[in-house]
Amino acid sequence: MEIQVEKKVLLTGIKPTGIPHLGNYFGAIKPALTMVSDDSYDARLFIADYHSINTIRDPKILKQYVYEVAATWLSCGLDPEKVLLYRQSSVPETLELNTILNAFTAKGLMNRAHAYKAAVDKNREKDKPEDHGINMGLYTYPILMAADILLFDANVVPVGKDQVQHVEMACDIAQAINHNYKSELLTIPSYVIDENTKTIVGMDGRKMSKSYGNAIELFLPEKKLKKTINKIVTNSQEIEEVKDPETCNVFALYKLFATKEQQDKLAKTYRAGGMGWGHAKGELFEVVNAELKPIRDKYYDLMDNKDYIDEVLKKGEAKAREIAAQKILKLRKAIGID
Ligand code: ADP
Ligand code: TRP
Repeated sequence: MEIQVEKKVLLTGIKPTGIPHLGNYFGAIKPALTMVSDDSYDARLFIADYHSINTIRDPKILKQYVYEVAATWLSCGLDPEKVLLYRQSSVPETLELNTILNAFTAKGLMNRAHAYKAAVDKNREKDKPEDHGINMGLYTYPILMAADILLFDANVVPVGKDQVQHVEMACDIAQAINHNYKSELLTIPSYVIDENTKTIVGMDGRKMSKSYGNAIELFLPEKKLKKTINKIVTNSQEIEEVKDPETCNVFALYKLFATKEQQDKLAKTYRAGGMGWGHAKGELFEVVNAELKPIRDKYYDLMDNKDYIDEVLKKGEAKAREIAAQKILKLRKAIGID
C-alpha cells in the first residue's frame, strides 16, 4: 500500500508596487519556482495587493501592476495547474485573521519593524515629526503579512533578506495565539533564504530596489536593456589598469547569469588589464539577454492576453478561499466567535 505523505506548504507573495526587477527575480521568484519545480511542496503564491495600497493610490496603476506580477510568475515558469496563484484581496478571510492577529500583537513589536523604523529615522534626519507620512498600513504591515502566511498554514516562506524579520514576527504572533488557546492552532512558519541571492546589487552597488531607483527591470526591451546595463556604475579606472571582478557591480550581476566557465574567463580578462568597462558591460548584456529573452517574449504575450490571466486568478481565488474558509472556521471556534 502506498503511504500518502502530506506535502509541506510553501507560500510567498510579491507586492504589486512596480515593474518586477532582477532583485525580485533572483531573490524571490526564481528560488520559489525552483523549490516548487519538483512537486515536493504544496505551493501557494500570491499577489499582495492590499499591501501595495500603502503606497499605490491610483487604481489604474495598481491594476496594471497586478497583471504585471501575475504575468511575471507565469512567464517565469509557474504552472497554474500545479501551483495555486491568487490575489491577496480575493481572500477576505485574510482580513478576518488580520483582526484576530491584531489583538495578539504587542505594539512594541511593530515599533521594532525595520520598515517603520527606517521611515521614522528618515523623518528625524529631515527634522520632521517622527510619524510624518507614515500610515497604519505601513506600521502594521507585518501583521497583514503574518495573516497571509498563517491563514494558509505555510511551513516554508521563501523570501529575500529584507523580509526575514517579518516572517519571524509571524512566528512570534502565532506562538502567542497557540500559547493562549493551548493548542497548535497556527502552523509556525520558517523562512527560506538563498545565501547566494539574498541581496542582489543594483546599478549603483546598493541593494537593488524600486525605491532606490537603481533597479534593472526584468522585461526591458532589448535596446533599453542594453542602455540600462551601460549605465551601471563602475570606477574610473583606465582601460590598461588591472581590475578586480570581486568589487565590481557589473561582475556581481554577471555571476548571476553566467556559467562558471564564463565567469572564470571574464574574471581573467579583468585581471589581465587592457579591458574597458564597455567590454564587461557587453558581456553582461549577452548573458542577461540570453536568459531573459524567452521569458520576456512569454511575458509580453501574456500581457496581451489579460483574459487568460483573469481566468487563472479566478480559479486561484476559488481554491484559496476554500482553504481559507476552513481555517477561519477553526479559528473562530477556538476563540469563541462561532
Ligand atoms: P523592492 O525593494 O524593489 O520594493 P519588494 O520589496 O517588492 O522589492 O520585494 C519583493 C521580493 O523580492 C521580496 O521577497 C524581496 O526580499 C525580494 N527582493 C527585492 N529586492 C531584492 C534584492 N535586491 N535582492 C534580493 N531579493 C530582493
Ligand atoms: N512583504 C513582502 C514584500 O515586500 C510581500 C509579502 C506580503 C509576502 N505577504 C507575504 C511575502 C507573505 C511572503 C509571505 O516583498
